[in-house]
Amino acid sequence: MEYNKIICADVLDGLKLLPDNSVSLICTSPPYAAGSGVQYDNRDDNQPYREYLDWLETVFSECKRVLRTGGRLAINIDSVTNREKDKDQEYFRPIYVDLGNMMRRHEMKFFAEHVWLKGATHPFHGVCPECQKTISVNGLNFCGKKTAWGSYCSPSTPAVRRNHEYILIYSKEQFKLEPAVDSGKPDIRDVDFQDWISSTWAIQPETRNLGGHEVPFPVELAFRLAKMYCYPNDVVLDPFMGTGTTAVAAIRANRRYIGIDNSEKYVQYARDRVEKEKPIFLPESVRSTRKKEEKARAKAPITENILGE
Ligand SMILES: C[S@@+](CC[C@H](N)C(=O)[O-])C[C@H]1O[C@@H](n2cnc3c(N)ncnc32)[C@H](O)[C@@H]1O
Repeated sequence: MEYNKIICADVLDGLKLLPDNSVSLICTSPPYAAGSGVQYDNRDDNQPYREYLDWLETVFSECKRVLRTGGRLAINIDSVTNREKDKDQEYFRPIYVDLGNMMRRHEMKFFAEHVWLKGATHPFHGVCPECQKTISVNGLNFCGKKTAWGSYCSPSTPAVRRNHEYILIYSKEQFKLEPAVDSGKPDIRDVDFQDWISSTWAIQPETRNLGGHEVPFPVELAFRLAKMYCYPNDVVLDPFMGTGTTAVAAIRANRRYIGIDNSEKYVQYARDRVEKEKPIFLPESVRSTRKKEEKARAKAPITENILGE
C-alpha cells in the first residue's frame, strides 16, 4: 500500500483499497444530512436522517476494519437543525447520540471526548474588525456578534446558539496503542500534552470558504489529534478529506496520511495544498534525497503491534 496520497472516490470504494489493521488514527468529520443546509460539491444533503445513519454505519464499520489494534477513530461532529417533518420531532438531531449507539453495536470502545469551543457568546477583550466588539481567548479571536434569537427574552422557544462541536474518540479492541515496528518515538512536547489533555479545546474555526468548501475544520484540530493519539510515522486516515486539512496536519506532525473524498474539486485543492507543505528552500540535492526517503517511508508496510498487551 502506498501512503501519503489522496484518493478521489466514493468513501466505501476508497476504503476497500486499504488493508486490514493498517491505520493508527482516523481523523474525520463526516458530511451531514437531513437538510442541514451545508452544500457540498458532490453530495445530496437531503438524504433522510435514518437512511443517512445506516450509510454512516457502513462507513464506520469499514473504518474499524482498517484500524489496527488500539487504533483510534476521532470523529468531529455537531448536531444539525432538524428540517425534516417526521415523527421524531427533534429540534436538533443529536448525531453524537446516534453515533454512540452505532459504535457500541460495532464494539468500538469509547475512549475520550474533546469539546471544540469555536467561539464565545460574550466579549472578553480585544476587538473584532467585523463587529468592533470582540474578544480573544488564549490569543484566539472569537466574535461575540452573532446570536440566536428564537423566542428572544422569552422562555417560549429560545434557540440556543451552538458554538461548540464534539470530537469523539473511539478505540479498536483495547485502549492502549502500542507502537508499530515502524512507529517513531513519542514526540509531543510536555507543554502541549498538558494543554491538550484537557477535554475542552478552544480553536479558531477555519475560513468558511477555503477551497470553495463550506465546512473545513482547522489544521490545529487535526494536528492535536495526530500528536496526541498516534506515533510519528503512523498512518492517519481521513475518509472525508475535503480540503486536505488532515493531510496538512499529518505532514506537519510527521505522520503519514491517506485521504478520500468524492469531489474532484476538493481533491484537486487538497493535492495543491499538500504540495505547498513541502519545503521549497532546500537545495535540489537535499530535496531529491528527501524525496527518495519520503517515497521509501510511504511504501513501508504497516505491521501489527509488536509488543502485545
Ligand atoms: C464535513 S466535510 C469534511 C471537511 C474536511 N474536514 C476539511 O477540513 O476540509 C465532508 C466531506 O465529505 C465528502 N463526501 C461526502 N459524501 C462522500 C462520499 N460518499 N464519499 C466520499 N466523500 C464524500 C464531501 O465532499 C466533503 O468534503
